Amino acid sequence: MSLGVVTARRPEAAIGAGLLALILMAGCTADVGSRAAATGGDPERGEAAIRRYGCSTCHAIPGIEGPRGRVGPPLTAMDRRIFLAGVLPNTADTMILWISDPRGVSPQTLMPDMDVSEGDARDIAAYLYSVDGAEVAPDRAPYAPPAFLPGERRPVGGAPSLSPDAPSGDPERGRRQLAAYPCGSCHVIPGVDGADHLVGPPLAGIASRRYLAGRLPNRPDNVMRWVQAPQAVKPSTTMPDLGVTAADARDMAAYLHTLR
Ligand code: HEC
Ligand code: HEC
Repeated sequence: MSLGVVTARRPEAAIGAGLLALILMAGCTADVGSRAAATGGDPERGEAAIRRYGCSTCHAIPGIEGPRGRVGPPLTAMDRRIFLAGVLPNTADTMILWISDPRGVSPQTLMPDMDVSEGDARDIAAYLYSVDGAEVAPDRAPYAPPAFLPGERRPVGGAPSLSPDAPSGDPERGRRQLAAYPCGSCHVIPGVDGADHLVGPPLAGIASRRYLAGRLPNRPDNVMRWVQAPQAVKPSTTMPDLGVTAADARDMAAYLHTLR
């Protein structure tokens, strides 16, 4: 497994066409459909383990009813994703690693280490790869704190706002700018032409989420900050700096704020 794409950093304002091509190629060559088998786990046991560990207090997970948490990204279409948690190429091995040791992979992540055994991690990974559930959205109910609090981790940029201010930008212009920059070559963004790729997490329902990139409280100012300079927030992230202007970022944040 080559980590070349993952560790590539682009200090330049614009993403190199080469990097983007590499990432998209990785998507085309991934063995979609074979990852569940590669985990060596059992999806049925995985479903039971997900309930036991309470993963859905923080995640919307296809096939798991009850609360669909909004602390982490929805665990939808996992078999079709290119990256995990923005830092790992998505393979059975990296999925098992992430589930059993998230803070070993990403020390600043708000996902807690839940002492998941290797066997349980294999079963859980098998389950996540065998359901797609692209339509599953996080709960829209008022925010309830998850049963597993992020422990001693302090999110960068202050506490999450429970009633985020509406951003000041122009959502309609933001929608057009999301298509003008290549955001849609890596994200599913409802309402944006051509935005149907799963390199990064889907942005459906993003306005209802508590954090961005597993660490940044989801407020319009932080959406702008992330979109303009993702590596300044999270140096290891594979989301590139696309040289988005402040005005464009403000309008994009306004549109993303409508995706509840
Ligand atoms: C306290 C909340 C919390 C709990 C509980 C939790 N997670 Fe997470 N999870 C997160 C956050 C936050 C992220 C984003 C991490 C990042 O990008 O640094 C995440 C990321 C992930 C990802 C990567 C998703 C993506 O879009 O790339 C997977 C897979 C995952 N979690 C699986 C699980 C499983 C399985 C469990 C239960 C064993 C679990 N999580 C429990 C908060 C949580
Ligand atoms: C080359 C692929 C790529 C491009 C292009 C891209 N992103 Fe991302 N994006 C990612 C990845 C990967 C992540 C997950 C990052 C992480 O957690 O470290 C991400 C994360 C995000 C998040 C946080 C999502 C979450 O679940 O926490 C937002 C918001 C976002 N991107 C918006 C944008 C916007 C707006 C654009 C266009 C200006 C864009 N992205 C362009 C790959 C990309």
